[in-house]
Amino acid sequence: MTPVNRHEGNSDDAYVHNEAFWDEVTPVHAGSDFYRVDEFRRGADVLHDFIVEEVGDVSGLSMLHLQCHFGLDTLNWARLGAVVTGVDISGASIERARELASELGIPATFVRANVLEMGDRFDGRFDRVFTSIGALCWIGDLDSWGRVIARALKPGGVFYIAEFHPVMDTLQQSRPITESSAAYPGYPYFGDGVPLRFDPEGDDSDYAEASFTSAKSTFEWFHPVSEVIEVLINAGLTIKRFREFPFVTYKARQGMIQGDDGLWRLPPEVVPLPLMFSVAAVKAIA
Ligand SMILES: C[S@@+](CC[C@H](N)C(=O)[O-])C[C@H]1O[C@@H](n2cnc3c(N)ncnc32)[C@H](O)[C@@H]1O
Repeated sequence: MTPVNRHEGNSDDAYVHNEAFWDEVTPVHAGSDFYRVDEFRRGADVLHDFIVEEVGDVSGLSMLHLQCHFGLDTLNWARLGAVVTGVDISGASIERARELASELGIPATFVRANVLEMGDRFDGRFDRVFTSIGALCWIGDLDSWGRVIARALKPGGVFYIAEFHPVMDTLQQSRPITESSAAYPGYPYFGDGVPLRFDPEGDDSDYAEASFTSAKSTFEWFHPVSEVIEVLINAGLTIKRFREFPFVTYKARQGMIQGDDGLWRLPPEVVPLPLMFSVAAVKAIA
């Protein structure tokens, strides 16, 4: 998708457009090799090892998965022992998640909602709140997002996010990264609360299914790492861990190279940049 201009309408309007986009791509994603649904059906884990390691043992723990898409990761956490609830704005995603849970006989609850509009229904219910990979750019008001997370956690509960690093998000998509001078920023690092509109172009293809190009525009926000950390602190959480990684889970930019661990990095001639980050934050007991 190509950034066209800043969004002129209000935020609600942006969420309506984004919901329509996610409704459209859900069946494409659920049938793609990228998401490995058939492998998951046969018992394979689809969660990335570094995420499972960082989140730790979830057996018997209640987990809220924000922006769960069609529930694949959510159901994987259930297989690892968590009692899961997934939330997503896309009705098509939630429908597909429920179908997959029922097909595989995995207990799970799926709720269609904008994460910023969950109200009080989850207050104090969860040992873990989880979100990952391609979540933050869809959320405009990060202050509210932090408060949503804090109120859903039980005292002592832990929030975990693994996400694209906003430094990576600045890198141009249209030009292959082959040397340091080619890894130049084309998108903002510091967001200002106004989403950029991304319009599809002829050679844009979906990240999960190269043969598919949506005709729909999306509206995406840019959040620096400091904003993420700050909203979690302001919501009353204590940061337990913050990490930055020189890899990303898929070929997010042309020129990236896949390692033996399946993760993608900038080519060796390019100065390594942070491509992902993770944060774990805990809600105080008293
Ligand atoms: C790229 S997926 C990220 C999830 C997961 N990492 C994955 O790859 O399946 C983004 C998801 O966020 C959902 N989403 C976007 N905006 C949302 C919002 N405001 N509230 C809840 N879900 C939202 C979309 O419907 C989509 O399923």
